[in-house]
Amino acid sequence: MNAPRTAATAFAPASVGNVGVGFDILGHSVGAIGDRVHVTRVERPGVRILEIRGTAPELPMEAERNTAGKALLAMVDALSLDFGIEVVIEKGIPLGSGLGGSAASAVAAVVAASALVPRPIDKIELLKFAMQGEAVASGSVHVDNIAPSLFGGLILTVGVDAPRIKMIPVPPAVRCVLVHPHMTLSTKEARRILKKTVELSDVVWQTANLAGFLSACYTNDIDMMRDAFQDVMIEPQRQVLIPGFKAVKQAAMSCGAIGCSISGAGPTLFAWCEEPQAEGIRAAMVSAFAEYDLPSDGWISGIDAEGARVLP
Ligand code: HSE
Repeated sequence: MNAPRTAATAFAPASVGNVGVGFDILGHSVGAIGDRVHVTRVERPGVRILEIRGTAPELPMEAERNTAGKALLAMVDALSLDFGIEVVIEKGIPLGSGLGGSAASAVAAVVAASALVPRPIDKIELLKFAMQGEAVASGSVHVDNIAPSLFGGLILTVGVDAPRIKMIPVPPAVRCVLVHPHMTLSTKEARRILKKTVELSDVVWQTANLAGFLSACYTNDIDMMRDAFQDVMIEPQRQVLIPGFKAVKQAAMSCGAIGCSISGAGPTLFAWCEEPQAEGIRAAMVSAFAEYDLPSDGWISGIDAEGARVLP
C-alpha cells in the first residue's frame, strides 16, 4: 500500500442515471465530462471548502450543504479521522443538467480523501459516504449516479443500506449520445412531481422491460434491447418539463437509435445507438432542440468509461 498523501486530486465522471427502465437503480458513467476535487490534509479538524470553480461556482460553500463537503463529513465521522480536510472543487458537469454532477463531486471528494488515509478503504464504504453527499442535493438517497461514477461502466445497484453493485456488460458497439439543452431542472422538483402510486399494469410492463434490457446486455441482443428500451413509468410524467422532448426523441429514433430517454432528472436526453449512427443522432437531436429555441451541447461516449480515480 502507498504511504498516505498530504494532498490529492481525484476525477469522477458524469453519469446517466436512470438509464430509462431502471429508475434509481441503473446508471452508466460518461467519460467525456466530470468533476475534479482537490483535498489537503490539515491539522485543524473539520471540512472546509475553500473554492468552487468551473461550470457551477454558485454552489454552497458550507460543507454541510455541499455534496462533496457532506460526503467528506460522513467519511471523517465514520473513520474518526484525526485531521481536517480543505477542499477545492472544480466543476466540469453543468449544474441541474441530469448528468450526475452532485454525485460526481461527492465521489471525487471521497476518492481524493481516501488517498490521505493510512489504510485502504473499500469502494462500498466510499459509496456510502458519497450517498450521504448526494442526498443533500436531491433530497433522497439513490445510487444510480454515484455507483457508476465511482465504479465506471453500466452499474446495477440493489439495496440502499447495504448496497450491492453489479457491473452489467454492454455490447461493445453501443455508444451513448448525450444532448444537454441550455436550461436547468432541479432534481428535487423532478422527483416531487412523480406520482406516489403506479398502475399495476405499468409495473408489469416496466419490470418486463428492465429484465429484457438486462438480458439483452448479457446476450448482446440489440433487437431485444430496442424493444425493452421503454420507460413507461417515469418518462411519461417528466417529459413535460423538457421543451421539445417528443421531437428530440423522435429525431434520435428516426436516425436509428436503440432507445432514447431522459438522463437522470433531465433536461439532458440520452440515446443509445450503434457506433455508425452516433454522429447523425447527435446532430439530429441538437437540431431538434434548436427548433424549440434551445441551444444545446452534445457528446458521444462509450458505456465502458473508467470510474473515479486519484490523479497522479
Ligand atoms: N434517479 C434519479 C432521478 C437521478 O431520476 O430522480 C437524479 O439524480
